[in-house]
Amino acid sequence: MSGVTPAWVNALPDEDYQHSFGLKAGSAEKFFAPTERHVDLLAQRRHWLRSDTARCAALLPGAEPLLEEATALARQWNSLPADSLSSPQGRRGPGRGGTTPPNDAPLPNPLPALSSQGEGEDDAWSRCLALGEAWEPDYLLLKPDAATGRFHLVGGCVCFPSSWRFEEKVGQPLEVIHTPVPHLNEQLASPIHNFLSRLKPGAAWCRANWGLSRSSELNQHPARGLPKLRPPLREDEVWLRVEDQALFALPESRGVLFGIRMTVIPLAEVKRHPAAARGLARALRTMPDAMLDYKSLLAAKEELLRLLKTEV
Ligand code: HEM
Repeated sequence: MSGVTPAWVNALPDEDYQHSFGLKAGSAEKFFAPTERHVDLLAQRRHWLRSDTARCAALLPGAEPLLEEATALARQWNSLPADSLSSPQGRRGPGRGGTTPPNDAPLPNPLPALSSQGEGEDDAWSRCLALGEAWEPDYLLLKPDAATGRFHLVGGCVCFPSSWRFEEKVGQPLEVIHTPVPHLNEQLASPIHNFLSRLKPGAAWCRANWGLSRSSELNQHPARGLPKLRPPLREDEVWLRVEDQALFALPESRGVLFGIRMTVIPLAEVKRHPAAARGLARALRTMPDAMLDYKSLLAAKEELLRLLKTEV
């Protein structure tokens, strides 16, 4: 085992699997701050945001004030380069999201401009993309519906999804977004809604999800058709994905900024940390089949436990 325990080990506690709220107070400025992976992460983000814009970015009407506030925070935290506010070339209006591509065919690039977009809308759209290219984490903007108070996803940039489609979630309320996750809404929809409604400015609230994949790619959009975890598997074909998340109140616009930072760890590295290997094996053993299925782990469960066995 290596000397220092990395932070991702905490995502794998030695306890039976359960949906957990698991929020801890943290710093949004630190969460969005550049790391030693900055150059590589930003190059990847730029690639996806420019080549597959409609799947990675969206800004619905009414989301502009949330974006303005998020952009102001990025400036305040010095995480937005001065030149990123100029309109990047070939980036005018692929549609600002909320539409679902008919299939997984590559989208045209450069994408056609929308004639209905005015100058101000174009500016906001450019800023939405600029923030997606400046921050290492993905970011999502949530806004409470004026009538019901339910939080809806109204925009953001998601380059590194774990097998979900950002473009299909845009415009949806959070409970609808969470529908594919077995039993999540019945257990946590109300606590999540109450928590978001009472979020106070200042601290970020942080939690983590994890998953396993047969690919080390950060961008695991379903359209990419990446390989699935099916037996037989070698140790060097499995990666742990840890999604660190931060929730931060946007008090002026009454919205929420949601950041997702992805870390991918080879299984061999996970096994070098016995606490992590133990926590992962226990989660796999105790996870209900419906949840294993949702996480695309059902077929590979025994194989994964076999690969982890030496350490547990
Ligand atoms: C405290 C708040 C939250 C909790 C406890 C929570 C919990 C979860 C859990 C347990 C999963 C399943 C992930 C897995 O195990 O693979 C999930 C998935 C997901 N969550 Fe959340 N979540 C929260 C807030 C949010 C917010 C604010 C968003 C913003 C839109 C969001 C978007 C998603 C999406 C897109 C998925 C994937 C759904 C799919 O597979 O179609 N969550 N969440």
